[in-house]
Amino acid sequence: MSVATQHPPGREQLGTFGPEPQPLSLLVNGEVRTALADPATTLVEFLRDALGLTGTKIGCDRGACSACTVWIDGEVVASCMTLALDARERNITTIEGLSREGELHPVQQAFIDHDALQCGFCTPGMVMSCAQLVNRNPDCTLDDVKTAISGHLCRCGTYPNIFKATLAAAAASRKGQAK
Ligand code: FES
Ligand code: FES
Repeated sequence: MSVATQHPPGREQLGTFGPEPQPLSLLVNGEVRTALADPATTLVEFLRDALGLTGTKIGCDRGACSACTVWIDGEVVASCMTLALDARERNITTIEGLSREGELHPVQQAFIDHDALQCGFCTPGMVMSCAQLVNRNPDCTLDDVKTAISGHLCRCGTYPNIFKATLAAAAASRKGQAK
């Protein structure tokens, strides 16, 4: 199973929810966001349809492509395989929340610099996995990058430039840390 298709780690129940739609509050990109959801609403549906955060894409809707990758408590997760209510009391980061104070994450900038996208449909998910890798291990190798995106499908075949971009972002992060 790819890293991006893991479910969030288990935890105790946070009370009952539903069966009718009811307000659900989630911490998304540092803000508490509330909208109606029913118990079957997936996290990606909640992000896109209820909150308007359409940067996260739905490719397969069954855990096979990783287009829907977000972070939950810093871990990459397939948001099509995660119920929105299971993300309560967790810290969710989407592609919209990756930049800081108007500055792109080094991986976002490197994807631009290295032309690491064509149609762009897989790109938000790819960026989330590559950014998590670079944040966690700025000394990552090509094999580490390949492993990090092993669950991601790119129909346009941009893998070579994604590898280059992610290694360049890692190098930029190391340089930044050395300052
Ligand atoms: S849309 Fe979630 S893994 Fe494909
Ligand atoms: S850039 Fe088109 S699917 Fe990856």
